[in-house]
Amino acid sequence: ELLGDARAPQDAAFVVSHRGGGALAPENTLPAVEAAIDAGFDYVEIDVALTADRVPVLMHDRTVDRTTDGHGSLASLTLAQVKELDAGSWFAPAYAGTRVPTLEEFLAVLGSSGRRALVELKGVWDAEAGAALIASLRAHDLERRVAIVSFNPQSLLATSGASDLVYRLLILRRLPHDIEQAVEGADARGILVDWRAVAKRPEIVTELHDAGLRVLVYTLNTDVEWQETTTAGVDGIVTDEPARLMEWQATT
Ligand code: G3P
Ligand code: CA
Repeated sequence: ELLGDARAPQDAAFVVSHRGGGALAPENTLPAVEAAIDAGFDYVEIDVALTADRVPVLMHDRTVDRTTDGHGSLASLTLAQVKELDAGSWFAPAYAGTRVPTLEEFLAVLGSSGRRALVELKGVWDAEAGAALIASLRAHDLERRVAIVSFNPQSLLATSGASDLVYRLLILRRLPHDIEQAVEGADARGILVDWRAVAKRPEIVTELHDAGLRVLVYTLNTDVEWQETTTAGVDGIVTDEPARLMEWQATT
């Protein structure tokens, strides 16, 4: 089951490739997602935000400047305008002409792959956008293969009325005083947390497991961190180096 209700505590943490294919291809593009699927990583993590005409597309930043040849905030551009942008040249010439994918295009690729994903909601999602997202997951039979994650509890709640099946995780930069209350307030089933917030008291992972919550960590690219988090018993590790993490798990 998604995020391992059937996963034994001694099992390896899920490998989650960050922003599509980790560092394999331009972030949040279909080549990145396809690379992650081909490589067999457990989960692919993508960022999703809304265009001016409220179409969800894969984009991490508020503006398109860093990851495309365009300028300005994503929320000020229509889908047609976004589709004109080159989202690959900044990464490497071989990816010139790569387009910003819509969420729909991503879900179509994921749906036929049998793989799983963390879909991170960037910006603020209202109930209408949340319900449309759930409808898309359902259309691709992905309700049990996608976890929705966000720093914003309101955006998570925007997806919560529409499905009991979809798993939600609250992303945290630091631990609040009452973690369980924060998770409950977002109708989530666990946290995706910056490991630096947990590293000094790793026992919190077991405490949260005992409370029935999942604990995933981001974004860890070194053996030392993989060892620490694996010892702490985390459920999943988001990494820019998913191929190396898989190798490390196989040899540890
Ligand atoms: O998986 C969580 C992580 O992706 C959050 O950070 O900035 O890479 O979206 P960011
Ligand atoms: Ca992210």
